[in-house]
Amino acid sequence: MALRHFMLSFLGCLVLSVSAHAAADRLELPAPQKTGGLPFMETLNERHVERTFDSRPLPMQEVSNILWAACGVNRSDGRLTVPTAMNRQLVGVYAVLPDGVYRYNAQQNVLEQVLRGDYLKQYRNGAPMVLLHVARESDRCSPFHIGSMYENVALYCASAGLANVMKAQETDRLDGKLPLPDGWKVYMIQPVGYPAK
Ligand SMILES: Cc1cc2nc3c(=O)[nH]c(=O)nc-3n(C[C@H](O)[C@H](O)[C@H](O)COP(=O)(O)O)c2cc1C
Repeated sequence: MALRHFMLSFLGCLVLSVSAHAAADRLELPAPQKTGGLPFMETLNERHVERTFDSRPLPMQEVSNILWAACGVNRSDGRLTVPTAMNRQLVGVYAVLPDGVYRYNAQQNVLEQVLRGDYLKQYRNGAPMVLLHVARESDRCSPFHIGSMYENVALYCASAGLANVMKAQETDRLDGKLPLPDGWKVYMIQPVGYPAK
């Protein structure tokens, strides 16, 4: 009887952990909020870098807004908030969150988990989210696209009262682990969170 009980509980755990795994693989994001925030000229006036963060996690609504600002879809034909040469869209962003690393699927507005575990500790800033801005190395326009993405995020942060810093340092922290397409690389990282009190 005890053995049967143990086997049933074990199978129950297995089913639970498998379904938890499946659920965590793909996170539906709330629709980005396209109204609100500071007026544009005030946003420019507030734009600045901050390197220390409150450890409070960001709500998923903020995560969605930030990723949409970086390279979300803003038109019915699939074009993006970030301009790209000939609309080739050879850009992407990953979000390092407390439980793993996620690829932003802009067309579906979902996060796809690519690494499980606490990778935030690789970045020594205490932010609850670190963006990894990626692009194809052989595209001569990649640095421009990356700059547009981190600036979109920086402006969103200024508008929403969040802290951020774009960094050319620490871009190699997930080398060999992050599943990038061949010839792509992390150009910049961008910790984002609430300002330190
Ligand atoms: C291309 C680029 C690379 C940067 N790399 C880093 C970096 O590796 N580490 C860092 O702390 N800040 C980095 N910054 C942030 C700058 O130091 C910051 O923007 C500058 O000091 C001006 O401050 P402000 O943005 O508040 O005006 C970088 C900024 C840019 C545009």
